[in-house]
Amino acid sequence: MLKLNENYLNLQAGYLFPEIARRVSAHQAAHPEADVIKLGIGDVTEPLPPAVTEAMAKAVAEMADASTFHGYGPALGYDWLRQAFAEHDFQSRGCDVSADEVFVSDGSKCDAANILDIFGAGNRVAVCDPVYPVYVDTNVMAGNAGPPKPGDDSGRYSGLVYLPMTADNGFVPEPPPEDASAPPLDLVYLCSPNNPTGAAATKDELAAWVAYANRHGSILLYDAAYADFIQDPSLPRSIYEIEGARDCAIEMRSLSKTAGFTGTRCGYVVIPKTLERLSSSGQPVSLHALWSRRQSTKFNSVGYVVQRGAEAVYTAEGRTQCKSLIDGYMANAAAMRTALTDAGLAVYGGENAPYVWVGCPDGADSWGFFDQLLTQAHVVGTPGAGFGSCGEGYIRFSAFNDRAKVDRAMSRVVGQLGALSDR
Ligand code: MLT
Repeated sequence: MLKLNENYLNLQAGYLFPEIARRVSAHQAAHPEADVIKLGIGDVTEPLPPAVTEAMAKAVAEMADASTFHGYGPALGYDWLRQAFAEHDFQSRGCDVSADEVFVSDGSKCDAANILDIFGAGNRVAVCDPVYPVYVDTNVMAGNAGPPKPGDDSGRYSGLVYLPMTADNGFVPEPPPEDASAPPLDLVYLCSPNNPTGAAATKDELAAWVAYANRHGSILLYDAAYADFIQDPSLPRSIYEIEGARDCAIEMRSLSKTAGFTGTRCGYVVIPKTLERLSSSGQPVSLHALWSRRQSTKFNSVGYVVQRGAEAVYTAEGRTQCKSLIDGYMANAAAMRTALTDAGLAVYGGENAPYVWVGCPDGADSWGFFDQLLTQAHVVGTPGAGFGSCGEGYIRFSAFNDRAKVDRAMSRVVGQLGALSDR
């Protein structure tokens, strides 16, 4: 009899963002006159930079001409794009990453999910709480996590190790203390700047994780999709700025937010060629070689036109234009921080990340406050509880929108706080 992947049946709820979209659509259907402002899913609103669209238009023209047409490209990405990523995102910052350690992909969501293909069953996997839900759900799908333990109403899956991120630890968890009775973590997902809290780890904080991983043979899965939003020059943009990281870390990057590619799709993974772990028979195995084999078998890379667009992000014009996009979104984040702080809320993030993480007003729970803002203020956030139990009592606002809408949304949110305190 045909067997299903019944791990999927262990997933507790639909994926967070479609659930929010469902509630927003229902509200819009009931109130077609409402001017709903979306600060929920982190989806860019500004168009692609002209340097990118010009490069893509040129590539389209090449594809229309028999003498310059491209069929299958290299499965791991064109060398010129791998070179651009390695040079501008790493070598220019003193990181030892070469072009052949870069694997072009269609974005970090897919990479964060697919990377589990090269790891076996039975690993001790750690995620932060709150967390980008892809890390958790894909571990459930892979059978690394099961339904919550009986009596646990936190919504946490069994089999995963959750690292709480709270205001007390600045939303950056420390490695667990050495404890001979607890087996070490095998895989640790870290995301900095963080989605959803907007916190960015310092070099010392990352160095503690690198030291932990190298002590225990763990692998750090480092998601740096928001690295270009870092404003503080003392903060690391890559895990490879930390000594020893080549021996324990895989890094994922994306152009989705940096260059407006959410609908265009391009990102990449870095796996150092020297990164190895032992097979069960004690043989050293290259993770780079495993991923290379995986990608060559299951992926034909990203379309030529998109890769040419991605390459243009790293031209002088492309870099200036992307910086201006990021500056605009970060100005929105600053405006949100000011409005919400002045209104007396506890506000985090938004300084080195496009997400502002906000404590709900007294007594409000995340989904309750989300629903109140949607129905009364026609403003969409993302309920913190949707990212994990430690997100309860918070709401996340995305800075991806235009400034006039952000200002309008903030004055409506602040108005709602007044309505709450008048009750
Ligand atoms: C978010 O809102 O958390 C992001 O848009 C999710 C993503 O990039 O997949």
